[in-house]
Amino acid sequence: MLTPGGVVVTGAASGIGRAVALRLAAQGAPVALVDRDATGLSATAAAAERTTGAPVLTLVADVTSDGEVAAALGTAHDRFGPLAGLVTAAGVLEPGGLADVSRASWDRHLAVNTTGVLHCLQRGAPLLRDGAAVVVVSSNAARVPRTGMLAYAASKAATSALARCAGLELAGRGIRCNVVEPGSTDTPMQRALWPDPLVGAHVAVEGDPGSFRVGIPLGRLAEPEDVAATVCFLLSDDARHVTLQQLYVDGGASL
Ligand SMILES: NC(=O)c1ccc[n+]([C@@H]2O[C@H](COP(=O)([O-])OP(=O)(O)OC[C@H]3O[C@@H](n4cnc5c(N)ncnc54)[C@H](O)[C@@H]3O)[C@@H](O)[C@H]2O)c1
Repeated sequence: MLTPGGVVVTGAASGIGRAVALRLAAQGAPVALVDRDATGLSATAAAAERTTGAPVLTLVADVTSDGEVAAALGTAHDRFGPLAGLVTAAGVLEPGGLADVSRASWDRHLAVNTTGVLHCLQRGAPLLRDGAAVVVVSSNAARVPRTGMLAYAASKAATSALARCAGLELAGRGIRCNVVEPGSTDTPMQRALWPDPLVGAHVAVEGDPGSFRVGIPLGRLAEPEDVAATVCFLLSDDARHVTLQQLYVDGGASL
């Protein structure tokens, strides 16, 4: 069961953030959806409103902007009061390894995936009610080295660490802060990596010794809803004694 109160979800216009938003709405939670993609946000909000009578607030903001994050979270707080939950799912992935990652791409990963989460946690913490829950969507690449994903993996490792440090500081208020680390999940971000949809999915599931990938022991890609289910468990009272954890949701791919 979810703790009563509003929940903010970043990255809600697509993929995992969208699935989290829809699952929360289906459970009757008041949700505030944040993304830089206004069109995608409207589509998620329309889908959420079809499943629930609960209010859905859409807030266009770029998480790399501290001011835009502060304004968006402030609006959610004005609407819902002290927040019961915060989920950060906004993120970017651009392929690139040691030989070819550009400084601009490195900076973009850190700005969105790491500093963007910092903005949400710093601006969000004073607006959370005591006993609230935070879930940061990181990646199994935070802990498992991958070829051609150097900046992404580094940004996610930093994000997982920052979330656990912030969670330690927030524990005194009874606020739980956990990290979900998905593996390959069927979203636009994942599909953008595949030159061919059938080949890309096959390689993700079966593995590729040439790039040191073991594949996915459970034999399928995650659906965004698989990750959303874990996020919502961690938001819920069922996880009331779980904090500062990094939880893989990757079908065993981090083996
Ligand atoms: N799909 C996967 O295989 C996978 C695996 C591990 C981790 N993840 C992580 O899960 C999260 C969600 O990814 P996804 O697969 O749903 O991707 P996605 O591309 O489908 O969705 C990402 C969303 O983040 C938003 N976003 C990007 N930059 C933003 C910014 N600066 N400000 C506000 N919004 C911004 C995008 O507009 C988009 O709606 C990301 O943090 C990603 O790194 C995904």
